[in-house]
Amino acid sequence: MHLSAPRWVRLFPAVAVALVASAAAPSLSRPPAAASGGTATVSDASRHAFGRAVANLRRSQWPLVRSGKELFVRRWAEPPLGPLHNAGSCSDCHFLDGRGEPSGTIPVLLRLSIPGPDGAPLPEPRYGVQLQDRAVGGARAEGTVILDWQEVRGRYPDGARYTLRRPRWRVDRLAQGPLHPGTRLSPRIPPSLVGLGLLEAVAVADLPAGRRPPGRFGWKGAATSVQDQVQRAMAEDLGLTELDGDEPRRLTTYVRLLAVPARRGVDRPEVRRGETLFRRAGCAGCHLPELRTAPEASFPELAGQTIRPYTDLLLHDLGSDLADIRLNGRPDRAPSSRLWRTAPLWGLGLQKTVTGTVALLHDGRARSAEEAILWHGGEARTARSRFRSLPAVDRGALLRFLDSL
Ligand code: HEC
Ligand code: HEC
Repeated sequence: MHLSAPRWVRLFPAVAVALVASAAAPSLSRPPAAASGGTATVSDASRHAFGRAVANLRRSQWPLVRSGKELFVRRWAEPPLGPLHNAGSCSDCHFLDGRGEPSGTIPVLLRLSIPGPDGAPLPEPRYGVQLQDRAVGGARAEGTVILDWQEVRGRYPDGARYTLRRPRWRVDRLAQGPLHPGTRLSPRIPPSLVGLGLLEAVAVADLPAGRRPPGRFGWKGAATSVQDQVQRAMAEDLGLTELDGDEPRRLTTYVRLLAVPARRGVDRPEVRRGETLFRRAGCAGCHLPELRTAPEASFPELAGQTIRPYTDLLLHDLGSDLADIRLNGRPDRAPSSRLWRTAPLWGLGLQKTVTGTVALLHDGRARSAEEAILWHGGEARTARSRFRSLPAVDRGALLRFLDSL
């Protein structure tokens, strides 16, 4: 399905107009608990919640944002769509700016690498950095990704049962022969795109010390800026070639100025209790509740904001269950295979509304926040055990809190 641009574009202005006045004189006091994205927050809990421009958007920016959105939903034709690609449009993978296809299916990109001489990853010699599973113009798709699920049963200390699903990845119908035997596979689902300009605007000095990735974007923080990620997506996901205009800039502006939806039910006692339990369990050690954006940012809308993204933007070892894998399906042993950027949790409770499905963690294996927590290992092992040891009502309260984000 391809939504026409005008229908989407009409969604922005309503809230923006109401808040434009407050943007001119940003308040220095802390924003209310529901305003996860400072004065850029939008009040929208509908399926369009992730696709709104920041509430404090200057009127002068509307045309640029609108033209960026048109590119975002544009279905590219060949050329410039590359002979090899993974999709024909940004919104095929980030439908309604969330994580998934218009059908509610969650697409998976298979990132490929081999260990280089100094341990740093190199592209797979024949297939490059990712397997492109679609082709046009007489080219042949590089291969097909096949996924099977294996059930993993578990029990809480109080006896309550749960079932997780572990993915088993295979690649088939490889067009250029077998993969290099040392190939590392890293399956990745598309993240939702809310608040990325705000995350980009956080000053480095405001981040805790820790394992700092090269960038802040992508599940491993590999992309150094929103623009870097957008250019990678254009080149690798869509295989776009021969573009010489200002498309990357327009798309980047659009993505940077995507808002964060307001929280819901923040004053409910259960939600408040859940928040306390979240901190007590140690979740907030990585899912940092509050950050500030620098006084100077790419856009004044994003500057000097107190934001609540629930991430420290650092990499953490989450254990071998979540590690990148080898061709035989076993966890890859390189330390970098176990490292993931703390996923921001803002917008979490609206994933289902926007996408129609809940798929969490880098490969989408978790069908709920509860499952995502139960997969945490490595540095997050203690937090997971504390969660597991909570009485059922407290586990419920913590999950209600996550749902309010
Ligand atoms: C085939 C599916 C697919 C398509 C098409 C696609 N993306 Fe993505 N996108 C992803 C995946 C997967 C990731 C995570 C990448 C990683 O971890 O390396 C991602 C990550 C991103 C991020 C970083 C999000 C974050 O939280 O760090 C941005 C921004 C982004 N995409 C924008 C775009 C834009 C703009 C387009 C169109 C030019 C696009 N994407 C097309 C799958 C896709
Ligand atoms: C050591 C750091 C760390 C701690 C402690 C931690 N997390 Fe995480 N969390 C992460 C990282 C890193 C990811 C991304 C992992 C991945 O994608 O495979 C993540 C992912 C998640 C996700 C999935 C988000 C998404 O968008 O897919 C949820 C939900 C979550 N964490 C909740 C929690 C809760 C609740 C706790 C406390 C019980 C907790 N985490 C403790 C680092 C941590």
